[in-house]
Amino acid sequence: MLDQTTIAETLGQHYDLAPSLEAAERLSDVYETMSRVVTPADWAIHAPYVEAINRLKKERNAVILAHNYMTPQIYHGIADVVGDSLQLAIEATKVKADVIVQCGVHFMAETSKILSPEKTVLIPDMDAGCSLAESITPEGIAEMRRRYPGAPVVTYVNTSAAVKAASDICCTSSNAAQIVAALDAETIIMTPDKYLAQNVARQVPQKTIVWYDGACIVHERFTAAELRDFRSWQPDTRIIAHPECPPDVVAEADFSGSTAGIIDYVTREQPGKAMLVTECSMASNISDALPGVEFVGPCNMCPYMKMITLEKVLWSLHSMDGAVEVDPSVAEGARLAVQRMIDLSQRSAA
Ligand code: 13P
Ligand code: SF4
Repeated sequence: MLDQTTIAETLGQHYDLAPSLEAAERLSDVYETMSRVVTPADWAIHAPYVEAINRLKKERNAVILAHNYMTPQIYHGIADVVGDSLQLAIEATKVKADVIVQCGVHFMAETSKILSPEKTVLIPDMDAGCSLAESITPEGIAEMRRRYPGAPVVTYVNTSAAVKAASDICCTSSNAAQIVAALDAETIIMTPDKYLAQNVARQVPQKTIVWYDGACIVHERFTAAELRDFRSWQPDTRIIAHPECPPDVVAEADFSGSTAGIIDYVTREQPGKAMLVTECSMASNISDALPGVEFVGPCNMCPYMKMITLEKVLWSLHSMDGAVEVDPSVAEGARLAVQRMIDLSQRSAA
């Protein structure tokens, strides 16, 4: 990828990207979806990019799949589909377009490529990684198999294609308990997120779950003590935690679920005050749709998710740089592990 200055200069030669009150006004209906969290001045900066991206998307026959942790200007301004990891993976199997732009992190783009190998899958920043994906290699899976012979390996989708290929089945935060419960084995290996595994162990006590030593740098930073302090200060706050948080944090929460599960819960319950114990963009993205909910308390930013910006999305569509490739021999094994997860989730949901 070129350096940021060259990218900005090149884009400036092809598109009118100067801050524009006129563009902001033309996209006032889009602005309505984020007016609680994006200032009018910032919208005048974003709107020209949003217009350029949406035009180019049509020319390239591209769709943008965006994770719930994207910024509001990506989530509301340019995404065709938004969702949690499972929803985005399922969507990748259905997309009709020639090009997928994955607004999320690298393992998500790799999953889309595995499920839609004939499509061009672009990631706007190749360095958008994930602490969980970086924590484990196929050798780590082999070591767990040596320690627990015969136990099936359930691997979080937040991993490389090679790690998925070395596993028996994948899971996401929305279906991990369901997948573990459905497996015909007493002892189950879960990798690489130790906290997700420990939270699932509580939900599925009939299984013995052993785990790998990985963690998400965003969710491991929350503590049960800070949640307790907050609750004693503002007792009417509904606390909602992602299952990548440590189990004592999840135990303090009123609800725990995937990012889509969290959105559904807050939308359904509409508490007066809600604390989303997860990535900061979650509250920003649903704030305007839920004017009666006040979002309070701490959140943490994912530095990898925040590498994806409007400028980089426009560059990837303009240059078609950043195509994700997966070695076909690895892709086949990884696809099997992901597809088993999708099939099992959809069968249980039916
Ligand atoms: P979900 O959106 O599947 O809950 O995943 C959260 C996450 O941390 C993705 O990287
Ligand atoms: Fe990885 Fe955590 Fe960031 Fe999700 S939030 S991409 S799990 S580091």
